[in-house]
Amino acid sequence: MSAIRRSVITGCGSYLPETILTNNDLAKRGIDTSDEWIVQRTGIKSRHIAADGEYTSDLAAKATLAALKHADVKIEAVDIVIVATTTPDSTFPATAARVQEKIGMTRGFAFDVQAACSGFIYALTLADNFIRLGQAKTIVVIGAEVLSRIVDWKDRSTCVLFGDGAGAVVLQAQDGKGDKTDRGILSTHLYSDGRYYDFLCADGGVGSTQTTGYIRMEGKEVFRHAVTNLSKVVDEALLANDLQPDEIEWLVPHQANMRIMEGNAKKLKLPKERVVITISRHANTAAASIPLALAEAVADGRIKQGQLIMFNTMGAGFTWGAAVVRL
Ligand code: ACO
Repeated sequence: MSAIRRSVITGCGSYLPETILTNNDLAKRGIDTSDEWIVQRTGIKSRHIAADGEYTSDLAAKATLAALKHADVKIEAVDIVIVATTTPDSTFPATAARVQEKIGMTRGFAFDVQAACSGFIYALTLADNFIRLGQAKTIVVIGAEVLSRIVDWKDRSTCVLFGDGAGAVVLQAQDGKGDKTDRGILSTHLYSDGRYYDFLCADGGVGSTQTTGYIRMEGKEVFRHAVTNLSKVVDEALLANDLQPDEIEWLVPHQANMRIMEGNAKKLKLPKERVVITISRHANTAAASIPLALAEAVADGRIKQGQLIMFNTMGAGFTWGAAVVRL
């Protein structure tokens, strides 16, 4: 094997808004739901909600500063900032430009990625390609959302599912041997199928209705496709790295539904303790959910340097994907 350049995660950070809304709080607010229904169907118990005047860029900037501190990397060393989000501060410019300003970064470049809940893995893939091609040495990849701003609080079938938050990782170029023992991103696998656009979408948009719209979802269809697509993409990721399922030490999945994550873990023959689950406290934070979960498990010492992690996700588009990473 010849030496190749790898994108190594050298720092993680996260930020969650202060306000916590429990399932019982939702019921108290007049939403026709119950803690029992939500927990049983999804695993969600509470979610964080951004304060008035607190934007995606605020959450993203705080997560970024935490990740840079964790990696011991100075802002001046960052070449690129990529923000994956479905809830940008403005229609334009990119939220990433606002993050660049808020963290005091005056060089390099910044842009957003829109791939709904798959945004973090899409952004990670782009960052990995910039690093492998030698176009950047240090990149911050962020998933950040204020989904509470685009849920229809009158639609109980969706408003109970989502939350706000941000997670970030610092990627740095390092040379590897080119095999699965290397630290860094070993492979990423992305898919989308636009035939399913309408099954999970906002019912508005700047180019169509000149409104942002609210989240609409055919929950059963999303569930059905998630199970099949995630299973296939996980197999592909294992095969691409010559890995057996039991070599994966941690599954850090997109946090959409407890039952989907449990099904995934079973397929990888991973005990529940090896799956990072934050859905009960974070709900579905779309592009933010994987980096939030990763940052939490690294901070509390569960995931350690050198361990092999599988990320996987499924979201609107439909989009889906997986990544195999050695921390
Ligand atoms: N509280 C109480 N009852 C409710 C609620 C609620 N919050 N929401 C719906 N119900 C009722 C429905 O009205 C329905 O009642 P009925 O039988 O009298 O008509 C009943 O509960 C069952 O509703 P379903 O929609 O059939 O419930 P289902 O078992 O499909 O669960 C859920 C819904 C949890 C959304 C599930 O379909 C799911 O998890 N889907 C996948 C979602 C997902 O993975 N999303 C990820 C992508 S999201 C993203 O990427 C942005």
